[in-house]
Amino acid sequence: MVKKIYIYSIIPDMAVDSQFVIENPSLKTGRKGKFISCTISDRTGKLSCRIWGPYGCGRDDIESVSRIITEYEGHIFRISGKADKFNDELTVNINDGLRYLSEPVDEKKVTTSDYIYSPADIDGNKTKIFELIDSIKNDGLKELVHTVIKKSDGFFDKPAARTKHHDYNGGLAEHSLEVAQIALSSCSSICGVRLNRDITLAGAILHDIGKCQSFKRKGLYFASLPAYSLIGHITPAMQTLSRYTSFVDDNTYQELLHIIQSHHGEYGEIRPQTPEAWAVHFADNTSAMLHEVSEDLKTAKKGEILWGKRSEGMVFCTESCEEEQPDEERKSPGAAKNQMTFTDCFD
Ligand SMILES: [Fe+2]
Ligand SMILES: [Fe+2]
Repeated sequence: MVKKIYIYSIIPDMAVDSQFVIENPSLKTGRKGKFISCTISDRTGKLSCRIWGPYGCGRDDIESVSRIITEYEGHIFRISGKADKFNDELTVNINDGLRYLSEPVDEKKVTTSDYIYSPADIDGNKTKIFELIDSIKNDGLKELVHTVIKKSDGFFDKPAARTKHHDYNGGLAEHSLEVAQIALSSCSSICGVRLNRDITLAGAILHDIGKCQSFKRKGLYFASLPAYSLIGHITPAMQTLSRYTSFVDDNTYQELLHIIQSHHGEYGEIRPQTPEAWAVHFADNTSAMLHEVSEDLKTAKKGEILWGKRSEGMVFCTESCEEEQPDEERKSPGAAKNQMTFTDCFD
């Protein structure tokens, strides 16, 4: 089956019959009985999907499909259903198409790159992050950050989240780079406030390093592990950094740990207590929230106000937000991104 429909082209009321990767399947119980909630994806994006089965479909049928797509999570399936808006969110609903979900598509017969969603410029982000690390003046701290990143399990490939922001291959490094760039801009643009550039930069790059332990490759994407919600990512980051105490003096080490420990801000266990920790916390929020609002507005029309599932608040589509993306960007997402260079931000 040739792939004819891509995520970016799906609009409400459209009949959808094409192949997509299934991510994050979850068996749920609603008013009408069991259904499966999941995400479908291809190289152009991701979309919510609900699998209900045909009219009169039994609970056993849904549970059996749930077991199959959970086992083959991250693999390609034929998705046959209809797109609709549900709670302001575009969703593909599957009824009769349940029968196509008994096995995944043979991936030898498809071009797998058509199914991997990553707007991140993975190689470009890698170069920029190593440039930033090289700019750290404290040699021990530079060595520490360099070693942690080099020895990490997938820092440049894994996502930063399961569904909220930067939830795609390469998202963790992209988010960390953004946090570093935004936090560093605070160092040079806030009058009369002295921030230690080295500590700010090291903390920003490493603030989410614990997320490397939250995901593992499954098929064509990275699935979240139970540790993602059971343990979170601060404790694993602390465990990782504890191997490198000898690289820096005690004060520097404590300041770095404090940034990571407090980066969730007001509502974390530890509130930020240094300008550097606040700078990283706000940079983290800025990077995350702007991506979430932007994603929430992706299918909105000019003048529309809707509930943003990712940002968990109302979002409004201005004239500029509805502007069409250039065709090239839609065909190969990522091509027009990341054109901002290191020197654009921090001369
Ligand atoms: Fe975090
Ligand atoms: Fe973060």
